[in-house]
Amino acid sequence: MLKRLNVKIGPLTIAPPLFLAPMAGLTHSALRQLILDFGGVGLLSTEMLSAARLPSENPATSPYLITTEREHPLSYQLLIYSSKHVVGAVAKIKKLGADIIDINLGCGAPKVIKKGGGRALLKRKDELEKIIKEIKEKTELPITAKIRLGERFDINALSKECDFLQSVGLDAIYLHCRLEKEPFCRPPRWNKLPDIKELLDIDIPIIINGGIFGLKEAKEALEITKADGLMIGRGAAIKPWIFKTISDALFSKQATSKGVSDIYLPDVFFRFYGYLEKLFPPERQIGRLKEFTHYFSQNYAFGNRLAMSVQRCKDMNEAKTVAMEFFRKNEKILQVSPA
Ligand SMILES: Cc1cc2nc3c(=O)[nH]c(=O)nc-3n(C[C@H](O)[C@H](O)[C@H](O)COP(=O)(O)O)c2cc1C
Repeated sequence: MLKRLNVKIGPLTIAPPLFLAPMAGLTHSALRQLILDFGGVGLLSTEMLSAARLPSENPATSPYLITTEREHPLSYQLLIYSSKHVVGAVAKIKKLGADIIDINLGCGAPKVIKKGGGRALLKRKDELEKIIKEIKEKTELPITAKIRLGERFDINALSKECDFLQSVGLDAIYLHCRLEKEPFCRPPRWNKLPDIKELLDIDIPIIINGGIFGLKEAKEALEITKADGLMIGRGAAIKPWIFKTISDALFSKQATSKGVSDIYLPDVFFRFYGYLEKLFPPERQIGRLKEFTHYFSQNYAFGNRLAMSVQRCKDMNEAKTVAMEFFRKNEKILQVSPA
């Protein structure tokens, strides 16, 4: 059984060691608050934020930056490709109250790679080192990086990458356990990473990510890798209570799963809907509802009908009507198993 109930990232104690993954269009204030309503999450995250654009974003209206006081600890993920953007970006996220700065070294989108960001930055070691050094000069906030396994499955190469990241002063590594070009539908490879800290010979915390959709995968991933924690992406949009389920079962002193057995899915959906309406400018709401529904609808056997009908909606009111209609017709299959 797991012994450690938390993980230290720099001076911060993250308890339980369960992390929300950064996800563009998904990990905004509405989803973060929904997750907090259930509890069990150790560290929240923003989606990736362009370091170049951050200084001019208005935190009162930018859907990337809107946040509430309860959303802590909160990691801000930077998509950065040049050290010239450090000063403005760091000043802005310090002002916003960031608890951790994360650097995106895993994104493989062609536009990002072309500019030298995401995983292309991991290959530009001098620039990356300069960026980290300058961030450290501007702030004492812990710095983490999110990477993938690499081009090929090569433990030596991965160990060297992690050693480099540790040597330039990073406080933790989030490892998305897929190769660079592997799509998300491919099974993650954490089962090939037994005793990961020893395997990679790394002292700083390693948090693994990929394909955790419930307690079963969480247990397996931790038992095999003995990683310092787990990061969850899509599973958090499908089941915003997933952190609570895992935390109660694996990281609570009295293992219980109280609080997640009776989930009425329409309530969860409309709570998310309510946060969107309350927090975001009207033109920023429907796109985010569509993105969330794409994942959340997977709780239903015929959820693609809900996702498709919300996808066709022009505005929030129309989406409310079609969702209510779907929930009315699917009343019988609402008692899903939460984990
Ligand atoms: C819609 C979507 C958006 C994503 N955006 C980001 C991002 O902004 N930054 C990042 O580092 N990874 C991003 N990812 C990758 C996730 O953080 C995570 O590594 C991936 O989904 C695998 O974890 P999972 O299997 O738990 O979903 C994104 C993934 C998805 C599905």
